[in-house]
Amino acid sequence: MELQHKVILLLLLLFHLLLVSAQTDSRDYSGLTSLTQSWTNKPQSWVGTDPCGSNWDGIRCTSSRITQLKLPGLNLGGQLSSAIQSLTELDTLDLSYNPGLTGKIPPEIGNLKKLKSLALVGCGFSGPIPDSIGSLKQLTFLALNSNKFSGNIPRSLGNLSNINWLDLAENQLEGPIPVSDDQGRPGLDLLLEAQHFHMGSNKLTGTIPSKLFNSSMKLEHVLFDSNQLQGTIPSSISLVSTLEVMRFDRNKLSGGLPLNFKNLGKLSELYLAHNNFNSSLPDLTGMNSLTYVDLSNNSFNSSDIPSWVSSLPELTTAILGDNLLSGTLNLSNGYSNNLQLINLVDNSITALQPNKVPNFQLILANNPICLENGVSQLSYCKVPQVIPAYSTPPNNCSPASCSSNQISSPNCKCSFPYTGLLISRALSFSNYSNTSYYKDLEQTLLDTFHKQNVPVDSVSLSNPFRNSTSDNFQLTLDVFPSQTDRFNTTGVLTIAFLLSNQIYKPPEFFSPYIFKGDAYGFYGGEPGSKSSNTGIIVGVVVAVSVLVVLALLAGIYAIRQKRNARRSSELNPFVNWEQNKNSGTAPQLKGARWFSFEELKKYTNNFSESNTVGSGGYGKVYQGVLASGELVAIKRAAQESMQGAVEFKTEIELLSRVHHKNLVGLVGFCYEKGEQMLVYEYIANGTVMDSLSGKSGIWMDWVRRLKVALGAARGLAYLHELANPPIIHRDIKSSNILLDNHLNAKVADFGLSKLLVDSERGHVTTQVKGTMGYLDPEYYMTQQLTEKSDVYSFGVLMLELVTARRPIEQGKYIVREVMRVMDTSKDLYNLHSILDQTIIKATRPKGLEKFVLLAMRCVKEYAADRPTMAEVVKEIENIIGHAGLNPNSESATTSETYEEASGVNVQHPYGDEDFSYSGVFPSTRVEPQ
Ligand SMILES: *[C@@H]1O[C@H](CO)[C@@H](O)[C@H](O)[C@H]1NC(C)=O
Ligand SMILES: *[C@@H]1O[C@H](CO)[C@@H](O)[C@H](O)[C@H]1NC(C)=O
Ligand SMILES: *[C@@H]1O[C@H](CO)[C@@H](O)[C@H](O)[C@H]1NC(C)=O
Ligand SMILES: *[C@@H]1O[C@H](CO)[C@@H](O)[C@H](O)[C@H]1NC(C)=O
Ligand SMILES: *[C@@H]1O[C@H](CO)[C@@H](O)[C@H](O)[C@H]1NC(C)=O
Ligand SMILES: *[C@@H]1O[C@H](CO)[C@@H](O)[C@H](O)[C@H]1NC(C)=O
Repeated sequence: MELQHKVILLLLLLFHLLLVSAQTDSRDYSGLTSLTQSWTNKPQSWVGTDPCGSNWDGIRCTSSRITQLKLPGLNLGGQLSSAIQSLTELDTLDLSYNPGLTGKIPPEIGNLKKLKSLALVGCGFSGPIPDSIGSLKQLTFLALNSNKFSGNIPRSLGNLSNINWLDLAENQLEGPIPVSDDQGRPGLDLLLEAQHFHMGSNKLTGTIPSKLFNSSMKLEHVLFDSNQLQGTIPSSISLVSTLEVMRFDRNKLSGGLPLNFKNLGKLSELYLAHNNFNSSLPDLTGMNSLTYVDLSNNSFNSSDIPSWVSSLPELTTAILGDNLLSGTLNLSNGYSNNLQLINLVDNSITALQPNKVPNFQLILANNPICLENGVSQLSYCKVPQVIPAYSTPPNNCSPASCSSNQISSPNCKCSFPYTGLLISRALSFSNYSNTSYYKDLEQTLLDTFHKQNVPVDSVSLSNPFRNSTSDNFQLTLDVFPSQTDRFNTTGVLTIAFLLSNQIYKPPEFFSPYIFKGDAYGFYGGEPGSKSSNTGIIVGVVVAVSVLVVLALLAGIYAIRQKRNARRSSELNPFVNWEQNKNSGTAPQLKGARWFSFEELKKYTNNFSESNTVGSGGYGKVYQGVLASGELVAIKRAAQESMQGAVEFKTEIELLSRVHHKNLVGLVGFCYEKGEQMLVYEYIANGTVMDSLSGKSGIWMDWVRRLKVALGAARGLAYLHELANPPIIHRDIKSSNILLDNHLNAKVADFGLSKLLVDSERGHVTTQVKGTMGYLDPEYYMTQQLTEKSDVYSFGVLMLELVTARRPIEQGKYIVREVMRVMDTSKDLYNLHSILDQTIIKATRPKGLEKFVLLAMRCVKEYAADRPTMAEVVKEIENIIGHAGLNPNSESATTSETYEEASGVNVQHPYGDEDFSYSGVFPSTRVEPQ
């Protein structure tokens, strides 16, 4: 145990060493910690507490604020919690290709007002796309494709006036395409900067609104394929003169092409297959940019094939199979050099002029012309093409024979490539034997990687495949590393980001594309694995790993807890609460009021920012004024820190029964509209921490500090001994002791307490929760929680009161420091150097030695050696009594300002910090969710 204690102290110490030079804004650090707490597969470089200062993979900062979170392709697991909202300076968020990221997108994402790029491609997210995304006014790039989002396309997206790329494809979105209406509600027609509407492979219904398109738009790619849209294509689309790719295939559209369709002079790819179009074949003459037209599997009817099919100058491909086309295909006036394929399978073509095989691929199978005897041997009567195999050939070398999972690159080096599928959503060629297309792709990919300084040796493409469900064309992409045989995390992130964010621009014939990255399992060369052999650094790594593992375990436990909670909340005990407060299901309340959501909303000015008085992992605390004029503090649980209904009910029943003058009283609660809020009395004079730091301007003399310690001890003793069932606070610290108008101490935040309900009164095993510096090492090691854990934290608080130092400051742990300099044979136990100078300046602090001795007993290593809180109360009462004071007097005389009492020139021990006290603590809080 002695050794373990030392390890813990070392751990705390070293952990803090890393904090001292932190460049990262503490809000961002704590936000990131809370966000990623339960994530799996985090990068190995995420060591320490300073993401900005120590180059964490995937994180970029600008003057200490986290501005970019680029984590695609890491195989991360977990959820996107509302803690994301803490990263308020974020401009880029990319979590693509992490299928283990699941659950809903929290509405709080709407608070990231500076976000310009949001990419969540190919993850496991589900539920609705939150409306609040529409408030991200700076957004230019939004890719939510290939998830499991359901519900409607939120009309609020119409508010994204800067959006350029909007990709919602391959989800389960349903309902109509939203357009603005006369009630002033927004819709996609307002997106005048958008060049990309990619909405394919969803379940959208209704007609295509005429209002969706007009001449002010800059749309280049309009993809609504594989939905359930009905009606006709509105003629307004002819006004979008920038249009290059149009996909409405695989819907239930009918009629024909709209008027003035030929105005779309830049249209290159037209995909209308698998609909119910029933007009005559459209006249596309003059649309000289067309390269690829697929009108197959409709009811287009024509007697004779129009000449544009063979004469349009850029056209490579005309797919007109499965229609009602008859008559003659006339090629006697020649045909374009660029033609690669005319597919007329399953029609009623009777003649070909001139009757000879052209030098492009012609398919007339299942037409009368091919049903006569003898002609079935003609090449154009054969069943359609298959795509020839392709794989990037070696680059003038012989492939190496590689061991295990390594692959020989085109340059014949064995390595572990990063892989994925490169998918064209609108291919504009059909001659798959012409490998120059593949060569072009390979070269442009390589150029992009080299330009971005990614250490890439070569790329290879293979397995060309046309997916008949979506008509997308896919290739397997292998990216091979140079220098080493594998990419490190940085390499993978960079490659994945270039592809997820469309920074790689493919040749026109492949555009638009998407990439779906595979998990990469061959990391090597991460920092830490080859760090220097000095004991300290090894120590840090070991210590931090222990912490990470513990945090992870805590996270897993929390998830399990939450699952249990969710299960039990299904038996909603609140059903009849509001209507029938006296029924058996209503909680047994003593004095605590029920508040409606609307009431609390009103009292807090709509939960406005200006009413916020605190926030943390659990959510936010708002100041409110009740109708009676009473001031209250309203603690509003964040979505992910909510308890099950049963637990919440138990908790408020308990809290409403806890009444003590040294405990912050519960006024009421709200459980409505998916909210859990606790309403507490408002305590005016801030926290002990703010007082000691000089932040609140309230200076406490020595006697006041003794009384504060006594008050807090009495509150705690009550929780331990008199509350039924007993309550262990678990997070005693100076920021949880509040000061009322008379500077009496009130213990706060026991709303998160773990009840001692276990059958065997003694200890409960639970996830480690608490705050670094105050944590009982025994509890930390064993996870056996007893009241003595609170006693430990209380001992640390006592040391804080005499030193006005934080528990961990500049790498020094207060308990260790006091032990180090303490000498009971000397005056003031030789503590002059670490005592708060403001209390020893004026008069001799009476009883200080005894107070310190008591504190040191509270922080004894073995819980059994520590006093109980009731004993602590008695001892402090004695100390105060010996000092000639009445422990029960409630004088308010010491409410002086810091300057008045201590003199302006005294440098306050907290005052010269370059980072704020309150900022450091939440970041080191070990608390699941
Ligand atoms: C769109 O923005 C306007 C103006 O900022 C705002 O009033 C409106 O509520 C927003 N609409 C939606 C649906 O978000
Ligand atoms: C296009 O639509 C937008 C939004 O409906 C509107 O503000 C704009 O005036 C329209 N432009 C034209 C030329 O009709
Ligand atoms: C095409 O189909 C639509 C819907 O089925 C029908 O209303 C319309 O009359 C048809 N038009 C022609 C020319 O057959
Ligand atoms: C044509 O489309 C229908 C549905 O629209 C589908 O059932 C059928 O299989 C398609 N035919 C071919 C040859 O793809
Ligand atoms: C074809 O595309 C559909 C829709 O995008 C997808 O669900 C399916 O997995 C794809 N098939 C293959 C073999 O990739
Ligand atoms: C990752 O690899 C790149 C290029 O090989 C190298 O410059 C970088 O230092 C590596 N990063 C780490 C964290 O090892």
